[in-house]
Amino acid sequence: MRRPLFAGNWKMYTNTREAGELAAGVRKQLGELDAVDVVLCPPFVYLADVVDVVRGSRIGVGAQNTHWEAQGAFTGEIAPAMLKDIGCTYVIIGHSERRHGLGETDQLVHKKTAAALAAGLTPIVCVGELLEEREQGKTNSVLERQVHGFLKGLPSESLGRIVIAYEPVWAIGTGKTATPAQAQEAHIFIRKEAAKATTPAVAAGMRILYGGSVKPDNAKELKSQPDVDGALVGGASLKADSFAAIARAAIK
Ligand code: PGA
Repeated sequence: MRRPLFAGNWKMYTNTREAGELAAGVRKQLGELDAVDVVLCPPFVYLADVVDVVRGSRIGVGAQNTHWEAQGAFTGEIAPAMLKDIGCTYVIIGHSERRHGLGETDQLVHKKTAAALAAGLTPIVCVGELLEEREQGKTNSVLERQVHGFLKGLPSESLGRIVIAYEPVWAIGTGKTATPAQAQEAHIFIRKEAAKATTPAVAAGMRILYGGSVKPDNAKELKSQPDVDGALVGGASLKADSFAAIARAAIK
């Protein structure tokens, strides 16, 4: 059984007050819920505040990025051990806004995933095709490259912890969601490729989240797909009510 997971990606939004209030609001609504795992991913500078607000609840905290080295002369970067040190348990890696906006390669995503695992974090690794890639029938080849690109060569004992987020780039922040059937088809394909890169047992236990314009009114249908194990939520995670409604919609 794969435990459903709902992660809120706050991106570069909120300030000190808003981050505290949002975390407190989510805690109030979902803090005791044990049917699903809930994770909040605020900007780096509010991570410690959010860790404080959710302490003692069932809610986890994750960063939106990490460096791949344990320490060193990397001005402006944050190491996975630092995230762990302040109470993070998750980290989003290879989000499309970083792959396509900041030039992150499959190789970099692999290195960051390996580093996150080594530090004891749970990586949420994002994959997904651009609109033109989908229109050209290249969705599967892109997903295949991205999945093998980050999974290949990771230590086998930590593979079970990995979470994958399928986020078709054309659905992120656009209000255009993949249909449940499109999501299911991509998730099955990703699981099949993950099985080749690891083992069938590891892939069968791996949580694959859907991301891209998930809202309270489409969450239930998406989550009802057998290979959709939860969601990575952007815009709708910035309001405690809508994020909580999404997580609750997934409970049968
Ligand atoms: P969205 O973002 O829900 O605003 O589309 C999802 C994401 O980028 O993780």
